Amino acid sequence: MRRSDSRSAAARSTRAARSLGIRAALFDVDGVLADTARLHTAAWRRLADEEGLPFDDRLADQLRGVSREESLRRILNGRQVSDSDFRAMTDRKNAYYQEFVARLTGEDALPGARVLLEDLADEGITCAAVSISRNARQVLAQLELSPLLKVIIDGNDAAQSRTGLDRYLLAAAALRCDPRKCVVFEDSTAGISMARRAGMVTIGLGDPRRLAAADLIFDSLRGVSGRLLLRWLETLRNGESHGASKASCPSAKITV
Ligand code: BG6
Ligand code: MG
Repeated sequence: MRRSDSRSAAARSTRAARSLGIRAALFDVDGVLADTARLHTAAWRRLADEEGLPFDDRLADQLRGVSREESLRRILNGRQVSDSDFRAMTDRKNAYYQEFVARLTGEDALPGARVLLEDLADEGITCAAVSISRNARQVLAQLELSPLLKVIIDGNDAAQSRTGLDRYLLAAAALRCDPRKCVVFEDSTAGISMARRAGMVTIGLGDPRRLAAADLIFDSLRGVSGRLLLRWLETLRNGESHGASKASCPSAKITV
């Protein structure tokens, strides 16, 4: 493609994005951009084994998008511990997790993540990362994704903010973008609910049973281009006007 052709294609795409009203894409980090959901699981499993607490894959899945403290409460499942033991356990889990994070490289970005971030920038859509994790900035730096993100909101930002806004609304405010013009990529039930409450369009990544509340569901980001995304959002908008509220679209099965 000649340079002028690619410029006019980009201009057309930008117009398409504008006509759909989408201005920003907000990406969760663990399990969306970064292959770190399995690292959180491995760290919790180690702690649970040491403490003689039951831990299985079903419980691990239920901890996606859940804070460190709430995760431990769910693992303890009613077992009483002192505040200082509770704190020591969350610290120990975090130390295990940080050991894993220190070994991450650019190769640990989930398939399709980097390409989609680059592609969306070409489509005129601003990208941000939004995570409940207090380690998210470190993870993005290790994956060399930070330069592709205009704003990063992590677990510290929402906790320290005086506005009381949740992390998605904080990101929209930082981008000066109407929340209704944001599309959110999330792998957790909790994240999809919060993004919906913020009035954003939601795309679930992974198991549809976990993501039933999302507007659209993809298997993963692999093969999802900016153009494909805009096409599905347009389908969603048209479908909504005809009464359908959701389409499940495993990326592998989509023909562009
Ligand atoms: C979420 C993960 O992104 O961050 C959860 O899905 C994790 O598993 C949560 O508990 C908090 O992460 P951190 O790094 O602050 O303990
Ligand atoms: Mg996640």
